[in-house]
Parts: sequence; structure tokens; C-alpha cells
Amino acid sequence: MINKFSGLLIVLILLVAIALYWKSTASSYSFKNHWETAIPNQQVPKGLNSLSSKACGQCHTDHYQEWQTSTHSMAWKDLQFQAEIKKETSPYMCINCHIPLQNQQEFMVTGLKDDDIYQPIKVKNPEFDAELQQEGINCAACHVRNGAVMAMEVSHRAPHASVANPSHLSEQLCIGCHNAVAVVTPELVCTFETGDEWKAGPYADTKNCKTCHMPAIHRPVAVGATEVKSRMHYFMGSGIPKLDTLSPERLDGLQYNFDTFKTTWSRSDSVVLTTTVTNKFAGHRVPTGDPERFIITKFSVLDTNKQLVATDSFRIGEHWEWYPVAKKIADNNLNPGDSRTHRMQLHLPPGNYLFLLQAYKYRTTDELIKYNKLGKHYPSHILFYKKEIPFVVE
Ligand code: HEC
Ligand code: HEC
Ligand code: HEC
Ligand code: HEC
Ligand code: HEC
Repeated sequence: MINKFSGLLIVLILLVAIALYWKSTASSYSFKNHWETAIPNQQVPKGLNSLSSKACGQCHTDHYQEWQTSTHSMAWKDLQFQAEIKKETSPYMCINCHIPLQNQQEFMVTGLKDDDIYQPIKVKNPEFDAELQQEGINCAACHVRNGAVMAMEVSHRAPHASVANPSHLSEQLCIGCHNAVAVVTPELVCTFETGDEWKAGPYADTKNCKTCHMPAIHRPVAVGATEVKSRMHYFMGSGIPKLDTLSPERLDGLQYNFDTFKTTWSRSDSVVLTTTVTNKFAGHRVPTGDPERFIITKFSVLDTNKQLVATDSFRIGEHWEWYPVAKKIADNNLNPGDSRTHRMQLHLPPGNYLFLLQAYKYRTTDELIKYNKLGKHYPSHILFYKKEIPFVVE
């Protein structure tokens, strides 16, 4: 039986073991994870004249529009990412999941001086394309390999070289970037475990990343083509924008239930306001991925004049301590299918009241946005659910 404490201990021991292993192998360092290097420079597939999303988008207009609303298209331009990679604590390989093609990177990393991740040996990349860099995780990053477009199947109607490679386009493509656990330095650990959470959860055999994040539809997949099986390219997720002008499509994993909410109380009772929140729709924990994400559920009680009488809030998310050694302090993320009850208890004089629940998704704290000087327009959160229920104290 693994309890929370021993679970944490095992994780800590593992982290230390990885760090020691890292150190012991430092003298003969070789790249182990795919994200320690870029995907080699790719050639433009026969029949096309550019690797850019914009060029693919001339024929694949729907895919292009959908992808443009996604945070994949912001993976390089994101102000927070730009602020992070300028810091001395960020090693060279940060960019390998955010601009994964070598063509998008100004330098090629051929090795590490003294096996130190902060001293990459760089040579200028003759095939660097600054326009491609701006596109972040673009069409070619997922689709172009060895001078051809990778596809689930080849229609023989495309004007470009296509190769059927369904295993490349399986959920493993997503997991390659959305699951990374490594101790880079004592203060810098990578803990994206969305793939492991999915594998351990109830959906592993029925639904994968594509089922939920690239829903299937029938449509023409290029201008003038006939309808075929297709998948949307919104890569919809939390729905928290990266710019105040970008509105990514949203999925909500959480469902709030008020079945046990009592709307009439006696003045001698203490009033207990309650809701049960369930991770009903996500194939992994909520929140998932970036450990800075959290969910705030806010309870407010208003009187008949809409004046605030009382308020309380509940947080779902992880707590980390980053210095001197990165470690997770707490984690109450909701597993798929799990529920949690939030309660607020108070004494109220007789009268009519309004219970107001507001639920927010945060990608990071407002303090961190201020600290990184991202400006007051950088969105930290969204309101994704709201409910009002009148109640009476007699
Ligand atoms: C000049 C127009 C044009 C451009 C540019 C273009 N495509 Fe296509 N593509 C097509 C057409 C037409 C089809 C066939 C659609 C059909 O009939 O179902 C197609 C098919 C595909 C398929 C399905 C596999 C196949 O062979 O049918 C994929 C995947 C694809 N394109 C990706 C891309 C990507 C990625 C880019 C940019 C690197 C791109 N395309 C650029 C026109 C284009
Ligand atoms: C090359 C690495 C890479 C690949 C491959 C990749 N992703 Fe991502 N994904 C990212 C990065 C990086 C971000 C965050 C970008 C940002 O916030 O600036 C992201 C963001 C997302 C988000 C939005 C998260 C949010 O903000 O709510 C979803 C959903 C998502 N990816 C799903 C997928 C799915 C599904 C696949 C497979 C079809 C996939 N990704 C493949 C790197 C990748
Ligand atoms: C059963 C459907 C389902 C499956 C399977 C699934 N997801 Fe999700 N995913 C969701 C929902 C719903 C959300 C929105 C959670 C929320 O913010 O309320 C989400 C959110 C996300 C986010 C944004 C982070 C967040 O906390 O909101 C990322 C990134 C993501 N998923 C990646 C993946 C990857 C990668 C896979 C495959 C390993 C995957 N998902 C499998 C339904 C699914
Ligand atoms: C994060 C990875 C990723 C990115 C970025 C991406 N695609 Fe795809 N694309 C996929 C996957 C995975 C499939 C296969 C879906 C399936 O059928 O299972 C696919 C399928 C397709 C298809 C086949 C028809 C269909 O709709 O399923 C076309 C065409 C296509 N993509 C074009 C594009 C274009 C154009 C872009 C850029 C605007 C793009 N893709 C960006 C992962 C990606
Ligand atoms: C293994 C691939 C990978 C590597 C390497 C990587 N990232 Fe990411 N990054 C991701 C994915 C996937 C997401 C989206 C995760 C999510 O939101 O669930 C992301 C999101 C982000 C975000 C946006 C967070 C947010 O809340 O919107 C920032 C900033 C970021 N990464 C910075 C970095 C820095 C700095 C490094 C180097 C220390 C780095 N990344 C290395 C895959 C990677």
C-alpha cells in the first residue's frame, strides 16, 4: 500500500537518483531524450514551396484557421515563454518542444562543453528560417519528415509528396511533448505527466489525446476537395488565451453539482453552502501539465441589495517550492472521475440571500506575471463557470 507520504518519498528518491545518474554520466554525456535535440532540418516536400503553416493554409484553410487559434501557434511568441528563455537559469533545450524543427532554430547544438547543459556547443544553422520560428508548433513540426507530408493515409489527390505513417501521427506524437519528467538542475525539474496520467486513468483503452482534443468530423480537407474523415485542429484545452486577442477553443473537464444544496435554513442552524465538483470529462488529472496551473472555485453570499456578506475560495492545483531544490509540497489535482466537495459554513441573520459560485482556471499567478513584467493585458485566467442560487434563512 502506497500512502501519500511514502508516494512522495519514492518520488523524491527517484528525483535524487535521476540527479545522481545525471551527474555520474556527465563525463560521457549523450543526448537521451528527444527534446534534448531539435528535429533535424527538414526539406520542403516535393510539390510545395515552403514549410510554413501559412503556405499549407493556402489549401488547408480550415486547418490553418483552427491551428491559428491554438496555443500551439503561440508556443514561441508567448510572452511568458520569451521571458523565461531569456533567464540564465533556462537551458538551451527549452526551445525543442516549442520550436521543434531545426529549421526554426538559429543554431545547431552539436554537443555540450564539459557536458554542461548551460554550455551547449552551437554552430550557425544555414537553413534557419525566422518566419518559421514565429509559428511555434506549426504544421510541418507534426507533419513533415524526410521530404514528405506524414499522413494517416495517402489519398493520391494531394499535389505534394505524402507518406502514410499512422504510428507517427498517433497519440504518441502528443505524449512526446506532453509527458516529460526530468531533473534538469536542482532548481529546474520538468514535470509534465499528462501522458502517464492518461495511461493510468479510465480512458486509456477507449479515448486518446486525439479523440478529445482533435474531435472527428467529415469535411473537405483542402479547398475544392470532397468530404472525407477529418479531425479538427483547434487543440482546444483550458481555453486560457495567451494574448488578449487570441481566443483558443475550450474544453471543460469539471462539472459542479448542487443536488445536496439546501435552499431553506432555520435561523438556529449554521448555514452550510456546498457543491461537489467532479473531473467528469478530462482523460487525465485536472489541472494537468504545467504545474503552475490551478483552479479557483469562489463562493460568495450576497444580500438582497447585492452587497457581499461573506466569501470563501477553494484551490485545486499543485504547490511547489523551487529553491534551493525544486520539490512538490502539495498536490490536490482531481483524478479522472474523482469528486471533491467544497463547503462554506456561516451564521446568517434571517433574510433572503443569493449564493454565487464562480469558477476560474489559472495558467499562472498574477504575481508571476508581474514579476516577469508581462504587462497588464497578459491573461492569467478565465472564468469558466458561474451559478447563482437564491436561499432563505427563516
Ligand atoms: C497547393 C495546395 C496544397 C498545399 C500548399 C498543401 N496541401 Fe496538403 N493536400 C492538398 C490536397 C488537395 C490534398 C488532398 C485532399 C483530399 O482530396 O482529400 C491534401 C492532402 C493532405 C494530407 C492528407 C494526406 C494525403 O496525401 O491526402 C495532409 C496530411 C496534408 N495535405 C498536409 C499538408 C501540410 C502539412 C502542408 C504544408 C506543409 C500541405 N498539406 C500543403 C493540397 C495542399
Ligand atoms: C512539439 C511538441 C508538441 C507536440 C507534438 C504536441 N504539443 Fe500540445 N503543446 C505543446 C506546447 C509547448 C504547448 C503550450 C504552448 C503555449 O502555451 O505557449 C502545447 C499546448 C497544448 C494544448 C493547450 C493547453 C492549454 O493552454 O490549455 C493542448 C490541448 C495540446 N497542446 C494538445 C496536444 C495534442 C492533442 C497533441 C497531439 C496531437 C499535441 N498537443 C502535440 C507542445 C506540443
Ligand atoms: C476523455 C477526453 C480527454 C482525453 C482522452 C485527453 N484529454 Fe486533455 N483535456 C480534456 C479536457 C476536458 C480538458 C480541459 C480540462 C479543464 O481545464 O477543465 C483537457 C485539458 C488538457 C490540457 C490543458 C491543461 C488543463 O489542465 O486544462 C492539455 C495540455 C491536455 N488536455 C493534453 C492532453 C494530452 C496530451 C492527452 C493524451 C495523453 C489528453 N489531453 C487526453 C479531455 C481529454
Ligand atoms: C500537434 C500536431 C499537429 C499539428 C501542429 C498539425 N497537425 Fe494536422 N494532423 C495531426 C494529426 C495527429 C493528424 C491525424 C489525425 C487522425 O486522423 O487521427 C492530422 C491530420 C491532418 C490532415 C488529414 C485530414 C484531417 O483533417 O484529419 C490534414 C490535411 C492536416 N492534418 C493538415 C494540417 C495543417 C495544414 C496544419 C497546420 C495549419 C496541421 N495539420 C497542423 C497533427 C497535427
Ligand atoms: C518536453 C517538451 C518541453 C520542453 C523541453 C519544454 N517545454 Fe515548455 N511546455 C511544454 C508543454 C507540453 C507545455 C504546455 C503544457 C500545459 O500547459 O499543460 C509547455 C508550456 C510552457 C509555457 C507556458 C505555460 C503556461 O502556463 O502557459 C512556458 C512559459 C514554458 N513551457 C516554458 C518552458 C521553458 C522555460 C522550458 C525550458 C526550461 C521549457 N518550456 C521546456 C513542453 C515543453
